[in-house]
Amino acid sequence: MANLSVNLAGISLQNPTVLASGIMGVSSSSLKFVEENGAGAVTLKSIGPTERPGHKNPTVFAWREGIQNAVGLSNPGIENSIEKITTSVTQLDIPVFGSMFADTIDNFKRVGEKMASTGVAAIEVNLSCPNTEDDFGRMFALDTKMTSDLIKAVKSVVGDIPIFAKLSADSSEIVEVGKAAEAAGADAITAINTISGVVIDINMKRPILTNKVGGVSGPAIKPMGVRAVWNLYNSVKIPIIGTGGINTGEDAIEYIMAGATAIGIGSGVYYRGIDVFKKVTEEMSRFMEENRYKSVEEMRGIAHKAS
Ligand SMILES: Cc1cc2nc3c(=O)[nH]c(=O)nc-3n(C[C@H](O)[C@H](O)[C@H](O)COP(=O)(O)O)c2cc1C
Repeated sequence: MANLSVNLAGISLQNPTVLASGIMGVSSSSLKFVEENGAGAVTLKSIGPTERPGHKNPTVFAWREGIQNAVGLSNPGIENSIEKITTSVTQLDIPVFGSMFADTIDNFKRVGEKMASTGVAAIEVNLSCPNTEDDFGRMFALDTKMTSDLIKAVKSVVGDIPIFAKLSADSSEIVEVGKAAEAAGADAITAINTISGVVIDINMKRPILTNKVGGVSGPAIKPMGVRAVWNLYNSVKIPIIGTGGINTGEDAIEYIMAGATAIGIGSGVYYRGIDVFKKVTEEMSRFMEENRYKSVEEMRGIAHKAS
C-alpha cells in the first residue's frame, strides 16, 4: 500500500490533500464533513480585521473550463470569528489552517495575533489583497518588499505557529516574491490563488460578474499553477502547497512531480463533489501502486530530474 503521508513544515498530514481557503467557510459542521470525506488538512476562509459584506451578486459562476468569483472577501471579521475558529480546531482531528487578509501591515498583525490564539496549526497569509498604504494600492503579492515586510511583521506576533505565504500568479515575479517570503521567515508557500479574468455574456453585452473582473479557478488555471510550483521549487527550500485546478489524483501527482509537498483543492469540490478528497487520494494510490512509488516523497520534484 502506497504511503500518502507527508510532512508539511513540521505538520504531519495523513495524505497531501488540503481544502483550499474560501470554499467551505470556517464553521466546524462543514469542515468536519470535509474531514470525513478524506482531506489531509483544511484551510479556513480568509478572515479580515472587520466585517465586510462583499460584492453584489452574481459573485460566482462556473463554465466549462473554470469557475470565476468576485466574492469580495466577504467575512464577519476576526472578533466575530474567534469562537467559530476555536470550535473547528477542537472538533476536527486533522490540522486546521487559518487564513487571513488585511489592508495594512498593522491590521494583518492584529488579525494574526488573534488568530494565533485559536490554536490553528498554521496561518496562511492571503497576499492577494490591496495594501491601502501603498501609493498605488497594489496587492501585497505583487511586490517583494511589501511581501517581505508583511511576513516579518506577522512572524513577530504569532509565536511559533507556521506561516504560509499564499502567492498570486497575477504577479510576473512570483518566484522573486516567493524568495522574499522565504527570506522573511515564511514556513511554506501556497501557490496559486485565483488568476484575474473577465468573462463576457455576449447576449447581455456585459461581463457576467457584477464586479466585472473576477478570480478564475478550476481546470483553466492548472498549467499556470504547475508552472508556479515548478519555478518556485527551483528557487526556495520551504515546502509548497500546489493549488489550482486539481480535480483528480493525476492532477495532484503532476503538482507533486513539479515539486509540491501538499496539494490544495478548491473548485474540485464543485466539479467532483465533497468526496473529491477521497477520490483524489484513491486515484493517487492507484497510480503509485501501478508505477511502484512507495511514498509521495519519492515523486516530489521528479519531473525536474527527467528534464
Ligand atoms: C468561491 C471562492 C472563494 C475563494 N476564497 C478565498 C479566500 O477567502 N482566501 C484565499 O486565499 N483564497 C480563496 N480562494 C482561492 C482558492 O483558495 C484557490 O487558491 C483557487 O481557487 C485555486 O484553486 P482551485 O482551482 O482548486 O479552486 C477562493 C476561491 C473560490 C473559487
